[in-house]
Amino acid sequence: MTDDPATVLSSPRRTVAETRSEFSEICLPNDTNLLGNMLGGHVMHLVDVCGAIAAMRHARCAVVTASVDHMTFLHPVQIGSLVRLRSQVNRVFRTSMEVGVKVWVENLLTGEVKHTSSAYLTFVALDQAGNKIVLPALHPETGEEFRRFEEAGQRRAYRLAQKEGTRQGG
Ligand SMILES: CC(C)(COP(=O)(O)OP(=O)(O)OC[C@H]1O[C@@H](n2cnc3c(N)ncnc32)[C@H](O)[C@@H]1OP(=O)(O)O)[C@@H](O)C(=O)NCCC(=O)NCCS
Repeated sequence: MTDDPATVLSSPRRTVAETRSEFSEICLPNDTNLLGNMLGGHVMHLVDVCGAIAAMRHARCAVVTASVDHMTFLHPVQIGSLVRLRSQVNRVFRTSMEVGVKVWVENLLTGEVKHTSSAYLTFVALDQAGNKIVLPALHPETGEEFRRFEEAGQRRAYRLAQKEGTRQGG
């Protein structure tokens, strides 16, 4: 991955590695419920932010969240612990792209790290006037990246069917 933004922008190849992003935040009292655990909505906010960073690293323009797939919270995030998030673009379609975000919680006193959530989000690229923009292609390189690329296609079909159901009031 190059550190020079000009090189990334002019690059004919956009790789998954170029989109990979990390983000972390300490769980503070303002973001917790009565048990001292981070609110699920706050975790979702962090997932959206971390996902948007990866999407913007690919698009290099404004993006909006079109959808967030199902999310499960496997472990609570307790006050004082660190929420760690990692994101990457899995697949680019035309104006939209799927981003995967994984969330861990790290106990800063013991060093124990637990995987707590994973999510897939779809972002759409827009110009300053709010018009959709056709995105540059994404080139998976590793076996794992090709697997995610393939699976993203299946998830998109499901998502668009769900959207149609919502449109029809389902
Ligand atoms: C997302 C948004 C830009 C889509 O606009 P639209 O006019 O419905 O556009 P289209 O139907 O042409 O969809 C554009 C792309 O997004 C994809 N898309 C749209 N809705 C989607 C959904 N729910 N899930 C997955 N992909 C979706 C389409 O498949 C299309 O992809 P492609 O160009 O890569 O083939 C528009 O609905 C919007 O602005 N929504 C609000 C976004 C927002 O404010 N998010 C923050 C939370 S409120």
